[in-house]
Amino acid sequence: MPVSVIILAAGQGTRMNSDLPKVLHPVGAAPLLHHAMRAAQSLDPDRTIVVAGHGAEAVSKAAKAFDPEAQIVLQTEQRGTGHAVQQAAPLLADMPGDAIVLYGDTPFVRAETLDRLLQARARHAVVVLGFDARDPDRYGRLGAQDEDLHRIVEFKDASPEERAITLCNSGVICAETSLLLDLVSGLGTANAAGEYYLTDIVGLARDRGLSAGVVICDEAETLGINTRAQLAQAEAAFQTAMRAEALENGVTLTAPDTVFFALDTHVGRDAIIAPNVVFGPGVTVESGAVIHAFCHLEGCHVSRGATVGPFARLRPGAELAEDVHVGNFVEIKNTVLDEGVKVGHLTYLGDAHVGEHTNIGAGTVTCNYDGVMKHRTEIGARAFIGSDTMLVAPVTIGAGAMTASGSVITTDVPAAALALARARQVNKPGLAARLMDRLRATKAAKGQS
Ligand code: UD1
Ligand code: CA
Repeated sequence: MPVSVIILAAGQGTRMNSDLPKVLHPVGAAPLLHHAMRAAQSLDPDRTIVVAGHGAEAVSKAAKAFDPEAQIVLQTEQRGTGHAVQQAAPLLADMPGDAIVLYGDTPFVRAETLDRLLQARARHAVVVLGFDARDPDRYGRLGAQDEDLHRIVEFKDASPEERAITLCNSGVICAETSLLLDLVSGLGTANAAGEYYLTDIVGLARDRGLSAGVVICDEAETLGINTRAQLAQAEAAFQTAMRAEALENGVTLTAPDTVFFALDTHVGRDAIIAPNVVFGPGVTVESGAVIHAFCHLEGCHVSRGATVGPFARLRPGAELAEDVHVGNFVEIKNTVLDEGVKVGHLTYLGDAHVGEHTNIGAGTVTCNYDGVMKHRTEIGARAFIGSDTMLVAPVTIGAGAMTASGSVITTDVPAAALALARARQVNKPGLAARLMDRLRATKAAKGQS
């Protein structure tokens, strides 16, 4: 059965006190919107529609970055959740199957929960996702008996008795697409907020003799982000879940509470992650790799048997083949290290390719930027780059070549050649001692202690 997903993301998020649209604030180094879109993706939807309003251009860009096929509709004025769904109608008019409404600021709804929602559709025309709230606060209240949902009443419109109900509306709702569009077209604004309430479709459906149902999930899944404090709380919850999942998948985390994952981090079985490691977006660490303490990784790929750190930084485009060793105080950017390459200490490699089993000495720097443009460095296999070599790009070092320590390499080095590019050493016998004597005499003459 085809499924469409509508993600509401038009709100400003006033309580975030931010210039950034709420749904673009990050959890796990990914915008909140991506979390909702990922939940949607688990349903393999035929259509994904994001309703954008505040910061629509940026929201649209973020949506397309996650899923180029996602469609964006504009809700210029936020006149309620029902009004938001109405904006998506033109894009859904011809769609068979069910539609699910999700929220860009509600990141943790699980794929299994959405599945249960779709299954409950076999029994009810409209299905609402509810939860038992520890603190029902200002949530909409669900009047239900077992799985049968009688009505939803918004907090603002609720009587004291209704406010005493703890079964609350998560906001997530599912119905056959054509029915949903039909129902939202009949919404009015005669309520305390003067808005088009999506929640009113339950009453409208029941007026037609259709049944409504409730599926209950854990409160943690429905956590919506309205404030920075909730954002921090969401980050903590996300990290806790990712750490548990990594451990479950056979990853060793020496000190789980000090490791920070991104939404798309992949770590293979038997990889070891030492304390204080931070993963930015786009990282894959394969089985058996070791990330030592205090490393920061983003946009990179670490292959089997490779070791990284301690205190290493892998930036976007760092590609480490099997058994590569990257040691302490090393930064790698947009650089491919072939199998068995060793970069032990104090090095910057940017915009480079290093052939297999090459050794990069301590203090090596690819001088890849001339102030205007970036340039590439090519280093062949089994080469030996001496400590403190400056590789002024563009430059190529042939296979099996060596550079002498302290060299500033400005022209290509042929394969198997030794490049010496430093001043020749001169020793002056006795000069150090004579110089010291003179300096001491000068100081004494000035009467300094
Ligand atoms: C809504 C539900 C409430 C539920 C709660 C769960 C309605 C009428 N009420 O209330 O029953 O308990 O969510 O959090 O649906 N949005 C738009 N355009 C709009 C209005 C809202 O895109 O015109 C988006 C917002 O950006 C937000 C989401 O929809 O992400 C929810 O809107 P919000 O105004 O926060 O609804 P609540 O009053 O919290
Ligand atoms: Ca809300």
